[in-house]
Amino acid sequence: MATRGSWSSKTGFILAGAGSAVGLGAIWRFPYVTGANGGAVFVIAFLLCCFFIGYPVMVAELTLGRNTEKNPVGMFNKLSGGKLRWKLVGALMLLSGFTIFAWYSVIAGWVVGYLYKTVTGQFHNVQNLDTNQVFAEFVSNPLTVTFLHALVIFMTSFVVYRGVKGGIELLSKWLMPLLFVLLILLAIRSVTLPGATEGLRFYLMPDFSKLNGQMILAAMGQALFSLSLGMGTMITYGSYLSKRENIPASAFWITFFEIIVCLTAGFVIMPAVSAMGKDFASGPELIFVVLPSVFGEMPGGYLFGVGFFILIIIAALTSTVSILEVPAAYFVDEKAWSRKKAVTVVAVVAYVIGTPAAMASGASEFWTNLPGLGTDFFTIMSTAFGDVSLSIGAFFVAIFAGWHWGIGRANAEIESNGNSFAIKKLWGFLIRYVAPITIFIVFAHVIWTQVLR
Ligand code: PHE
Repeated sequence: MATRGSWSSKTGFILAGAGSAVGLGAIWRFPYVTGANGGAVFVIAFLLCCFFIGYPVMVAELTLGRNTEKNPVGMFNKLSGGKLRWKLVGALMLLSGFTIFAWYSVIAGWVVGYLYKTVTGQFHNVQNLDTNQVFAEFVSNPLTVTFLHALVIFMTSFVVYRGVKGGIELLSKWLMPLLFVLLILLAIRSVTLPGATEGLRFYLMPDFSKLNGQMILAAMGQALFSLSLGMGTMITYGSYLSKRENIPASAFWITFFEIIVCLTAGFVIMPAVSAMGKDFASGPELIFVVLPSVFGEMPGGYLFGVGFFILIIIAALTSTVSILEVPAAYFVDEKAWSRKKAVTVVAVVAYVIGTPAAMASGASEFWTNLPGLGTDFFTIMSTAFGDVSLSIGAFFVAIFAGWHWGIGRANAEIESNGNSFAIKKLWGFLIRYVAPITIFIVFAHVIWTQVLR
């Protein structure tokens, strides 16, 4: 354990886990996916997915990780007795780690760019700013987007290279509470904007006619993504967890914080969308076209804007480090690479595969309108390695913990050191039946309706 590093304290772990969970997934992705999927119904589906799939899978991942003290591939290898099919599931998680790191850093780069714009006063005291235009110009500059992408990858590598305690924990501990306070203040500003009511209605009053299979897949993907599940982050973070820790309680707090931040981000963005006359279904650019106007319309908006973008960057970094940590831990554990080599190799590969994603919002015509596919490379990448790969990963974690390794062993691990697990029966039921069956049905339904018909 000593050579792999470990968390220094219980709150240190919960904060690092919450730091991994809370990031662009809550602040950038949740609002735009909610906007694109009909509002309140999506929010309900998202919450159900968090409770019935997310939480049980998080307990499973942390338990599997702590039991083996390994990365996902090493964990599956060890507990399955070296079965290839389980190692392949671990390999899929590694692949998700590389690819999600690649595209996530693109968006984090946009945030850095927007921080720069805010600091230099480009959103300050300007009348009738066309924020859609500003965004379109920003993302279609190839130099800007690729430079910012590289910058985020570099910053992340730096933190991960410094190791578990020094880097990740320290960052998470201090700034997440501050981010939350700022979010609340912004939410208050948003809901009191003239024209906010329509956004609030969209966000809070469910229209069940909007319910469909694809929306549920999106809700499931969002739940897993924002809770950092299905790609082995929580397995890896669990591997640094001491035996004394109460896994179900830690998982509960991480899930709780994440949900609160998602919901609050919705209260910041949704009312502002209607107040600013924007489109709920704007897609990935949603927060970038809405936020500058919100800051423009509030007292002290300049400072708020600067502070807010800085904190989102830090929230994003505590997530990117947790993504990069997965492949890095794999190379360190399984291939005996030095931490430095592992981090460097992953960073370079992620930069290369992320570059087309960075160019896919207008900087390159080819990647923006992929010939014959009718979509852009970023969308493909974030759907395939986001919603789809995480759902597959979570499905197999549930099968593995619930059936293969077994809930008996899982419970013994959870209850080691005298920790009690009050909802043992419920968890067993969720992880064996509810989570895998739901994921399976949603997949089967989407494949049936989208691909086969
Ligand atoms: N949960 C992180 C976020 O919301 C993203 C993430 C996904 C991190 C998967 C780790 C694993 O920003």
